[in-house]
Amino acid sequence: MDFFEVIRTRRSIRRFEDQPVEEEKLTAILEAANAAPSAGNLQAYEIYVIRSQSALARLASLLGNMEFFAEVPAVLIFCANPERSVIQYSNRGRTLYAVQDATIACTHAMLAATALGLASVWVGAFQEKAVSEALALPAAHRPVALLPIGYPAETVEPRARRTLKDIVHLVK
Ligand SMILES: Cc1cc2nc3c(=O)[nH]c(=O)nc-3n(C[C@H](O)[C@H](O)[C@H](O)COP(=O)(O)O)c2cc1C
Repeated sequence: MDFFEVIRTRRSIRRFEDQPVEEEKLTAILEAANAAPSAGNLQAYEIYVIRSQSALARLASLLGNMEFFAEVPAVLIFCANPERSVIQYSNRGRTLYAVQDATIACTHAMLAATALGLASVWVGAFQEKAVSEALALPAAHRPVALLPIGYPAETVEPRARRTLKDIVHLVK
């Protein structure tokens, strides 16, 4: 798929087929995340791969209003790792760059999934502490985005966007 076709066709998908994600595709998605830019190339993030039934069930039970978590074959958790960024960038690294690094990596993963015929939805509405505890994530790794990935079991119309006229501001 051409890059702009990926951008055009990606949708947030919240129903998934009961079909596993191939190992090679998951690896390609993780490689795409790893290719993302990051402040000072420090890559101040960690990615947790959730594939076990037990871990997926623990995660689903925390996200009560998102039933699709119970049926998705894989979830990637993008965590900011501020300790990697603070060394070089002090407070800006801790509070901003680490989160930006993690979210750019997540964006790469999301677009790579689309390019491979898979679907995903970025989930930001969760209790960080509860997710960390349920999955035994290290305290220094702050979960900032959950990315369920699987084969789509629904088609979704594109959602409207603001116009460029509304969003873009020419500075004189
Ligand atoms: C930072 C961020 C947080 C989001 N959190 C959620 C979420 O918690 N639950 C959800 O169902 N979708 C979530 N979404 C997906 C958005 O609802 C979706 O991207 C938006 O409605 C546009 O639809 P589209 O992705 O199909 O273009 C989130 C997206 C982003 C970028």
